[in-house]
Amino acid sequence: MPCSESSLATSTPAPGLHRFAILTATATFALIFIGGLVTSTGSALAVPDWPLAFGHLVPKLVGGVRFEYGHRVAAGVVVCLTAVLAAWTWMVEPRRWVRRVALAAIAIIIVQAILGGITVLYLLPLPVAVAHAGTAQALVCVMVSIAMFTNPEFGMAGPIADDGRRPRLGALAITTSCVIYLQILIGAVTRHLGAGLAIPDFPTAFGGLIPPFASVGIDVNFTHRCGAIVVTIFVVWTTARIFRGYRGVSQLTRPALLLLALLATQITLGALTIWSGRAVLPTTAHVLCGAGVLATSVALSIRVWALGGLASPAEAANLPARESAAMKNKVTA
Ligand code: HEM
Repeated sequence: MPCSESSLATSTPAPGLHRFAILTATATFALIFIGGLVTSTGSALAVPDWPLAFGHLVPKLVGGVRFEYGHRVAAGVVVCLTAVLAAWTWMVEPRRWVRRVALAAIAIIIVQAILGGITVLYLLPLPVAVAHAGTAQALVCVMVSIAMFTNPEFGMAGPIADDGRRPRLGALAITTSCVIYLQILIGAVTRHLGAGLAIPDFPTAFGGLIPPFASVGIDVNFTHRCGAIVVTIFVVWTTARIFRGYRGVSQLTRPALLLLALLATQITLGALTIWSGRAVLPTTAHVLCGAGVLATSVALSIRVWALGGLASPAEAANLPARESAAMKNKVTA
C-alpha cells in the first residue's frame, strides 16, 4: 500500500517503535502516579532547590524528599524515553503528521520540566501547580496517541458509514474528552488549593444537596462534584451512541466499555478520597485513574477519526477503502 507523508496508515510498519511508544506511555502513567504521591504526601516542597537537590545531584533520601526526589528521577527517565521516542520516530516514520506529534511530545515535556522547576522555586504557586498537573495529563494523551499511530494496524480498518445522527460521533467524542480535561483541571485546582475535604461528606454536601458557599474551597470542591455529573452525562451519551449506531464495531465498543468502567472506578476513588480523609493511596489512585479516563476518551476519539467518523457524510462516502477486508466491517445506519 503506498504511503504519502499525509497518509493515515503507514506502508513501513515499525513494530519496535510501536512497542517503545507503549513503554513510554506506560512510564508516563507511572510518572503521573509518582507525581501524585508528591502532593498526596504533602512533599511538594520537601526539596527547596531545582535542578539540584539541597545543592547535590543526589540528596539524603529521608521523609518527603523520597517522594519529591523520586518524582524528579522518574521525570528524568520519561524525558529520556521521550527524547529517544521522538528521535526514533523522526528517523523511521514516513508520515509527517506523526513526526509532528512526536515533536509535540518533546515540546510538552520541556514545558512540563520548566513548570515543575518554577513550582519548586516559587513555592508552589496555584496557577503553576495546576498548569503542571494539566500539562502532565496532556502528555499522557500525546503518548497514548503516538502508541496508537505507530501501531502497524493503525488506519487499516474502515471507513465505516456515519450513523446519520447528530452531533456526529467524532464531534461528540472530542467534546467528551474536552469536558473530562476541564474536570481534571478543576480537580487540580481543588487539590492544590488544599480543598479536597472542604466539603467533608459525600455524596451529600454538609448533609444536604447544596453546600453553603462559604469559601472558595467549598465552591471549587462543589464545582468538581458537579463536573463529575457532567462528565458522566457525556461519557454515557458517547457510549450509548456507539452501542446504538456502531454495535458491531469492536474498535469502538471496546474503548467505550473501558471508558465506562474507568469512569465508575474514578467516581468510586473520588468517594474513597473523601471517606478516607484523603488517604494517600485512594487520593493518588484518583489522579492516576483521571489520566486513564482522559486517555481512553482521547483514544476513542482517535479510533472514530481513524474509521472515517470525523468526515462529513459526503466525504465519508468518498473515502477509499483502506483495505478490502476491512470493508467487511462496514456499518450502515
Ligand atoms: C468524574 C470524573 C472525575 C475526574 C476525571 C476527576 C479527576 C480528578 C483529578 C485528575 C484530580 C487531581 C488533579 C491533580 O492534582 O492532578 C482530582 C482531584 C480530586 N477529586 Fe476528582 N475527578 C472526578 C470525580 C470526582 C468525584 C465524583 C469526587 C468525589 C467527591 C472527586 C473528588 C476529588 C477530590 C476530593 C480531589 C482533591 C484530592 C486532593 O485533595 O488531593 N472527584 N480529580
